[in-house]
Amino acid sequence: MDEEILDSGKFEENNSFQKKIDFFNNLSQKILTFDSCSDCLISCKMCTFAEKRKKGLMKPRFMKSDQIKKICLEFIHHKSFFQNLVLSVSGEPLLNPDFEEIITQLFEINTNEHKLFRYISINTNAILLDNKKVDLINKFVKQGNGWISLNLSIDAASRATYEKVKGGDYYNDVIKNIKYLLDQKKKMKFGVNEMIYFQILAHELNEHEIQKFVNFWSTELEKRSMEFKVDYAMPIPHFHNVIIIKRIYEEPQKKYDELHKKVVDKMGLREFHKGGIDDKKCNDEIKHLPVFEKTKRVPCGSLWLSPIIRADGTLNVCLTDVDNHLPLGNVFKESFFKLWFSDKADSYRKIHIKQTFKDFWPCEHCYYFDGVKLSETQISEYKKLLGI
Ligand SMILES: C[S@@+](CC[C@H](N)C(=O)[O-])C[C@H]1O[C@@H](n2cnc3c(N)ncnc32)[C@H](O)[C@@H]1O
Ligand code: SF4
Repeated sequence: MDEEILDSGKFEENNSFQKKIDFFNNLSQKILTFDSCSDCLISCKMCTFAEKRKKGLMKPRFMKSDQIKKICLEFIHHKSFFQNLVLSVSGEPLLNPDFEEIITQLFEINTNEHKLFRYISINTNAILLDNKKVDLINKFVKQGNGWISLNLSIDAASRATYEKVKGGDYYNDVIKNIKYLLDQKKKMKFGVNEMIYFQILAHELNEHEIQKFVNFWSTELEKRSMEFKVDYAMPIPHFHNVIIIKRIYEEPQKKYDELHKKVVDKMGLREFHKGGIDDKKCNDEIKHLPVFEKTKRVPCGSLWLSPIIRADGTLNVCLTDVDNHLPLGNVFKESFFKLWFSDKADSYRKIHIKQTFKDFWPCEHCYYFDGVKLSETQISEYKKLLGI
């Protein structure tokens, strides 16, 4: 077994450390995120990361399959289970030369004996989602080793608009790839085991063809007698095919909020929306109020439930902390649990528990602090573990 895993294993002798691992394992809605590739082959107008890449503020990095494996084996060793394992944050995961190996390895690790995850989420622009990759993913979904969720960032309904929004002439490739994906899903009768989201971010460059986008994908799904929903935020419970019109998070935020609201209201989507995780973000009234005028803050669940591993191995407690103000160390070099339950990580948690956010960046001004949360009982339990 890997030396690093044994390293964290040593802590099992330390009672309070083991109790924290047990606490972690008992949290049911955990999400593990690997930013498996920080590079991309296009440059979308609204992508914060594309802007960073252009300015040289983000290095192109590709996680190696053995780096991911090392971390997963530590979880297996400690019997940790995640609802969701995410493979994309800042770049295009299918651009990673190790992508196929990563997928193969993750599904192979996820056995009935050692369940690591329920499903893998991949956000992709689908440019490289060729038949070979679709077949590989489907092979494992068919074997029942885990489900897959594919969020396809399409963002246009014509070649011309695609090129303007995404900065590359790939529209026809994307359509071809997705049609094959749909044909296979139909053939394999995957249903919810394969969740496919057809995503368009509402932008002034594609606003005129959002209805066309919905009509196009509705027709493709109807042709294959597939059920689907059209929504403006992720529906809960997850549905297996969703055409989704999403809001852009970027300055000037007010402009994007209003554009999104105008589009989804025109389509009458709010009336049909059933509770979803993006609801709060879609509530315009709340969104523009300063944090402290909002409802009483609760400790952000992300600090306990959602580890983010950046492409260079930096472990972070928050997905929105793109500039890495809250790094915990490098999981390629050290044990995950050693870092996740380090004094530094607990100092962040104490700030959240005691609500002393002043000058604590980026949490002080965060809008999404109750996207995921712990129950009051869980907070009390963790306070005991912290001795406060
Ligand atoms: C940065 S991308 C990386 C994964 C992949 N390259 C893709 O485009 O799906 C991750 C997700 O963020 C979305 N996204 C990009 N810029 C955004 C923005 N300004 N606001 C909201 N979502 C954004 C993309 O549409 C995609 O669903
Ligand atoms: S495809 Fe994804 S990562 Fe690439 S520029 Fe667009 S949103 Fe960003």
